[in-house]
Amino acid sequence: MTLNNVFNKWGTDKGNKHNAAHNYAPIYEQIFEDIQVENLLEIGIENGNSHNAWAEYFPDAMIYGADRKPIDLDHLRILQLTCNQNDIDSFFTDQWQSLPLMDIIIDDGGHCMNHHAITLAALWHKVKPGGYYVIEDVHTCNYPKGSELFGQAVMNDIANTLVTFRDYLISINKRTHIFNTPFAELKKLDTFDIKSVRIIGDNNSDTLDIENIMKHGLIVIKKCPV
Ligand SMILES: C[S@@+](CC[C@H](N)C(=O)[O-])C[C@H]1O[C@@H](n2cnc3c(N)ncnc32)[C@H](O)[C@@H]1O
Repeated sequence: MTLNNVFNKWGTDKGNKHNAAHNYAPIYEQIFEDIQVENLLEIGIENGNSHNAWAEYFPDAMIYGADRKPIDLDHLRILQLTCNQNDIDSFFTDQWQSLPLMDIIIDDGGHCMNHHAITLAALWHKVKPGGYYVIEDVHTCNYPKGSELFGQAVMNDIANTLVTFRDYLISINKRTHIFNTPFAELKKLDTFDIKSVRIIGDNNSDTLDIENIMKHGLIVIKKCPV
């Protein structure tokens, strides 16, 4: 079964059928041509739809999921952790420290600017060399001030994730680039081991025209291989 069909079968909006129908399968297929997936972590479990989809698509992989609370999900290869994307310390418990390095980490959690920054800063060290970190649904970076998702403010006054990565992409010396954000958690990120960054917009193509990402969007960050 194709990845899109697996997404649609399990009802996640990563496919082209359910809810917002983000149609992210073509981009994930590009990523999976580049890596072998043994360990995959996705923040944002909700009903477990995407975690069940990953477990089916990667029959030999361990799938890790994190959310504010675990859900009832009976699958031998899906392991749940807890986190609060507003609190960086929640990613440094014993449970988190004992995780193996991940081939891919996906942030499909609360989609607020603070969440992007805190989660990336907390988990970048858990990405295997040569692996990927993906932030989903970054069209929320263009939500109006005052918007809320999952009862949390989407925007903050200090950093917008799409602007942060657009600035990185147009910077001349990326290896020494410091994320131009006063948001401390993201500023600490070491750009030296970033191999590439892609911003992918509404029609699944790479773009720097970030103001026009309105419905679907991904930031795909590849870590340098050793
Ligand atoms: C879009 S849903 C995940 C959907 C799932 N990945 C799928 O495709 O089927 C987002 C999830 O993020 C979680 N979330 C929201 N705010 C969070 C926070 N501050 N920390 C951790 N998880 C959060 C919500 O509880 C919700 O389950």
